[in-house]
Amino acid sequence: MDIAATVKVWEVSVKALVYHGPGQKSWETVPDPSPAEPTDIIVQIDTTTICGTDLHILKGDVPAVTDGRILGHEAVGTVAAVGAAVTSLAEGDRVLVPAITSCGRCAYCKRAMPSHCQATGGIGWIFGHLIDGTQAEYARVPFAETSVHKVPEGVTDERVIFLADILPTGYEVGVRNGRVKPGDVVVVVGAGPVGLAAIQTASLAGAARIIALEPAGTRREHSRRFGADVAIDTADPDAEQQVMALTDGGLGADVAIEAVGVPATFDICTRVVRPGGVVANVGVHGAPTTLHLEDLWIKNVTITTGLVDGTTVPMLLQLVRSGKIAADLFGTHDFALHDMMAAYDTFAEAGKHNALKVVIRR
Ligand SMILES: NC(=O)c1ccc[n+]([C@@H]2O[C@H](COP(=O)([O-])OP(=O)(O)OC[C@H]3O[C@@H](n4cnc5c(N)ncnc54)[C@H](O)[C@@H]3O)[C@@H](O)[C@H]2O)c1
Ligand SMILES: [Zn+2]
Ligand SMILES: [Zn+2]
Repeated sequence: MDIAATVKVWEVSVKALVYHGPGQKSWETVPDPSPAEPTDIIVQIDTTTICGTDLHILKGDVPAVTDGRILGHEAVGTVAAVGAAVTSLAEGDRVLVPAITSCGRCAYCKRAMPSHCQATGGIGWIFGHLIDGTQAEYARVPFAETSVHKVPEGVTDERVIFLADILPTGYEVGVRNGRVKPGDVVVVVGAGPVGLAAIQTASLAGAARIIALEPAGTRREHSRRFGADVAIDTADPDAEQQVMALTDGGLGADVAIEAVGVPATFDICTRVVRPGGVVANVGVHGAPTTLHLEDLWIKNVTITTGLVDGTTVPMLLQLVRSGKIAADLFGTHDFALHDMMAAYDTFAEAGKHNALKVVIRR
């Protein structure tokens, strides 16, 4: 279908959550998303959510996000129009729009690393960052055929939406980079949504024991529901000794996953990992960390970092479909799209509301 014609026919007023500089946002009328390329589709957003990164943006921590940008990089929606070059998607298809856009053709996409897609400016995370995002009634989705995933019938939005970001992040950057294998002892520092996704998928990867380190009591409780065997309060003066006591011969964990993003938690990981183990950093760091190579080299420790690629989404979707990943555990609060501002208020004070992720539906 001719995309331009379709867009004209709508003539609806589109609402979206717009960033207006640090501390400023509003739910307001925006222009209809206009098709720019023949590989674009337009998606009517059925379900979206808010990420900790959106809160970082609102604090002014991500200067690439400029005044007037629609936020959001996670969605499940219905295809409303397709560009001239799109043949495998049609109006009415239900799709998952993931955080990472992939042109499918550049050297990084071919290397299964769309996090550095060269056609999207060298960074695959463009929604709600470099282009308008998904916290809106409609969104333009570039490189649609190589980026979105069709949602199988019978799988609800709330089970699929967390495949857009947190589940592949916890799995790819935590569990897979950490090389978790059957029988491993895995420590996950930080039991926010990303840490919980790492816990859930480490369990599927065969970890024999999963230890969560987390200061918030409510999140320690959540961690057990997601598959942690033990949850330790990081405020306990002997928290690290408790971890060591739970590992083989007291030598340390096979894999330590950092899911907070501050120097202190990265340091904990380097201390509780066993000789020959892996520290997998997932957290987004805003400040430099001292890397104690003087201790780590002789411990034969491997350190990994990474930005999610989302290349495991089809595999994770199968596990969600079969019930092996209980993805609906993440959604703790429901909102309507037009209550976006209230959804932000709740998510910004997640501790007070015992919130993990908010599910926002049209
Ligand atoms: N690498 C990637 O591609 C990628 C993608 C998405 C998110 N992230 C990052 O992953 C991190 C986690 O994301 P999230 O959404 O779960 O964040 P979150 O803020 O919701 O959760 C962080 C958790 O860490 C806990 N915490 C705070 N201080 C701690 C400490 N000293 N020790 C142990 N736990 C502590 C908090 O109580 C909270 O439960 C963030 O830094 C986020 O930016 C990375
Ligand atoms: Zn995110
Ligand atoms: Zn690419």
